[in-house]
Amino acid sequence: MSTVTATAANLSVFVLLIAVAVSAQSTPTTSYTNHTVGGPAGWFFNSSTNSSATNYSSWASSQIFNLGDFLIFNTNTNQTVIQTYNETTYQSCIADDAAGNDTFQYGGGRENFGELLTIALPLTIEGTNYYFSDADDGVQCQRGMAFEIDVAHGLGLPPSLNQPPPPPYIEPPGPDTAESPPITVGGSQPSDGGCLRIGANLVWVLLCALLALSLRP
Ligand SMILES: *[C@@H]1O[C@H](CO)[C@@H](O)[C@H](O)[C@H]1NC(C)=O
Ligand SMILES: *[C@@H]1O[C@H](CO)[C@@H](O)[C@H](O)[C@H]1NC(C)=O
Ligand SMILES: *[C@@H]1O[C@H](CO)[C@@H](O)[C@H](O)[C@H]1NC(C)=O
Ligand SMILES: *[C@@H]1O[C@H](CO)[C@@H](O)[C@H](O)[C@H]1NC(C)=O
Ligand SMILES: *[C@@H]1O[C@H](CO)[C@@H](O)[C@H](O)[C@H]1NC(C)=O
Ligand SMILES: *[C@@H]1O[C@H](CO)[C@@H](O)[C@H](O)[C@H]1NC(C)=O
Ligand SMILES: *[C@@H]1O[C@H](CO)[C@@H](O)[C@H](O)[C@H]1NC(C)=O
Repeated sequence: MSTVTATAANLSVFVLLIAVAVSAQSTPTTSYTNHTVGGPAGWFFNSSTNSSATNYSSWASSQIFNLGDFLIFNTNTNQTVIQTYNETTYQSCIADDAAGNDTFQYGGGRENFGELLTIALPLTIEGTNYYFSDADDGVQCQRGMAFEIDVAHGLGLPPSLNQPPPPPYIEPPGPDTAESPPITVGGSQPSDGGCLRIGANLVWVLLCALLALSLRP
């Protein structure tokens, strides 16, 4: 009985230390976010009222953007999505003159108007990113279909968006190499019960070791 109580006491000290360590962590970014552009209003222009469905600048200023986040445009083929890093292009509301690698177009350009579509764009470059619709010869953009965001580093790009170029093609092994012994990757298990694996942070390694001690019968 008394050993159980002692273990429980150790455990509660451990939990307290965890809470202190967690509250001392200063990085607010812990995951990637999908930002639905315009919120429930989506990315729409009403040509009868000549206005955007919502104030996109105002929406953008309510969000925090980091590398690896996505912008989700819920829209239809009446609008386009132009992404640019070029402020001149953004201010002009026209993508046609854009040259080179700094401007990309998504959506629109379909045969049918009003066809629903969702466009998901990852944020891959830190700093100012600009978005607008160049439909109706720039009128949509002039009338509110435009916003800029500032992309912070956050967690950095996840591996899925930061792939190195694929390795060069290698001829598959022929029948004569089939008997070569398998290569063993990786070594022995860590001897600390796994504490070194949960992170490089010294505090966490110590806490993990403390837990291992407190759970010892
Ligand atoms: C965010 O959007 C991307 C692209 O559509 C998708 O692959 C991912 O699963 C979404 N993440 C979340 C948390 O919804
Ligand atoms: C555009 O606005 C008018 C007037 O508010 C409204 O009647 C119409 O349904 C809107 N059109 C679209 C496509 O939302
Ligand atoms: C919409 O606004 C643009 C410029 O802001 C103007 O040139 C155009 O005539 C307007 N269209 C309508 C239908 O009011
Ligand atoms: C949109 O909101 C911004 C503030 O976030 C404001 O400066 C701007 O005038 C608004 N635009 C319109 C068309 O109301
Ligand atoms: C931005 O785009 C304009 C054309 O819209 C082009 O003349 C200019 O060189 C571009 N600027 C940069 C830094 O690429
Ligand atoms: C475009 O290419 C130039 C030169 O190759 C490079 O310096 C620049 O960072 C690129 N811009 C973007 C947005 O990728
Ligand atoms: C899309 O644009 C077409 C042509 O301007 C218009 O007739 C239609 O009402 C628009 N649809 C929506 C859903 O805005």
